[in-house]
Amino acid sequence: MKILVLGSGAREHAIILALRAEAEPHEILCAPGNAGIAQDAALVDVDMMDGAAVTRYADEHGVDLVVVGPEAPLVAGVADVVRAHGIPVFGPGRAAAQLEGSKAFAKRIMEAASVPTGRAVRATSVAEVEAAFDELGAPYVVKADGLAAGKGVIVTEDRAAALAHAAQYVASGPVLVEEFLSGEEVSLFFLSDGDTVRALSPAQDFKRALDGDEGPNTGGMGAYSPLPWLAERFGSEEAFVDEVTRTVALPVVKQLDAEGTPFIGLLYAGLILTPRGVRVIEFNARFGDPETQVVLPRLRTPLSRLLLAAAVGTLEDEPQPVFSDEVAVTVVLASEGYPEAPQTGRPIEGLADAAAVEGVGIVHAATAGPDAPGGSLIATGGRVLNVVATGSDFADARRRAYDAIGRIRLDGSHHRRDIAARVAE
Ligand code: AMP
Ligand code: GLY
Repeated sequence: MKILVLGSGAREHAIILALRAEAEPHEILCAPGNAGIAQDAALVDVDMMDGAAVTRYADEHGVDLVVVGPEAPLVAGVADVVRAHGIPVFGPGRAAAQLEGSKAFAKRIMEAASVPTGRAVRATSVAEVEAAFDELGAPYVVKADGLAAGKGVIVTEDRAAALAHAAQYVASGPVLVEEFLSGEEVSLFFLSDGDTVRALSPAQDFKRALDGDEGPNTGGMGAYSPLPWLAERFGSEEAFVDEVTRTVALPVVKQLDAEGTPFIGLLYAGLILTPRGVRVIEFNARFGDPETQVVLPRLRTPLSRLLLAAAVGTLEDEPQPVFSDEVAVTVVLASEGYPEAPQTGRPIEGLADAAAVEGVGIVHAATAGPDAPGGSLIATGGRVLNVVATGSDFADARRRAYDAIGRIRLDGSHHRRDIAARVAE
């Protein structure tokens, strides 16, 4: 197949590596990509935010499948334009992508589909926020309504800080004040063709910047898959996945279909396992980052086949995706100052040495260069790259991941040291 992947992050690199790992060879293109992706796909010069340009390119070059990685082009309606032209595209249209683009929309769909989630109050003024705080109590959870790259949410006991956060966003639109939910978090991905879903294996993300879940929220500092502790509570991973499929994914997909806005793509369910049951904290309309980096290396079913079946509406004919028994751990290497004020433009050394560790792959998030043959790559963003390690158990995979990341040099960089530590014990 000829596959065009849109995006430039570690998620897109992980998707491309999974496509390349299939027995059947593919021609893989990526726009805009990054320096790591350039080693695994042909970079093409197309504006991923311009649906007409993507369609024209796909049409002229005989692309069989377009895979939209990030949320921004989805929310901008790029998939609608490509799909309207009859080209198979994995990614929801603008309307269904509102599941991620608007927290208020997501709440409305969940309510209509009777999907379990935290209570939330929509507020359009500081006074309404204060009233909601009084009603729901501490800790306070405030979420900006639109896309905010992980920065729109605050969870705190500090009422003044929560109010200041709300005031910042309520000036330009509604915010949601949400009931605080406590429990383990799980990221579960569903492929959807608008009617049928197929679940992937669960993962857990580490959202805070610092060890011990301290510090500010980030896009994600590491992840692991599968989640062995699910079996203690649900009997097995399959039982958990079945429950979430039945109570969350299918009702949401059916609701969107009934509204005439089918969800064709990746439904990301962000869940909290509270003592009173599974609750949805958020939906995303695309693969999670960095969870994808640990889910896809374990996938044994050819990814291209699943993505195409979702895009063309034949997921019902596909068996449940199969995963290896190996475990996977990823650790994110971040630039100095991430997430507040990342320092970029610094050289990265030691990548070949890191990639030589058994079971380790390097997935690039924000890299460019080299400017000259044999030169160093340059870090161009906050989350720079992921070290991904597979192994027979978590102790094994962690040892490999931390051995590899220890070989990479980037001035001022930081990473968490406790990714998957608890499951490795
Ligand atoms: P979100 O952008 O909605 O995924 O929120 C970012 C993070 O904030 C989540 O991964 C949770 O750790 C936390 N969070 C969001 N909503 C809640 C909630 N209602 N209760 C507790 N923590 C939450
Ligand atoms: N890792 C969280 C996300 O992809 O939104």
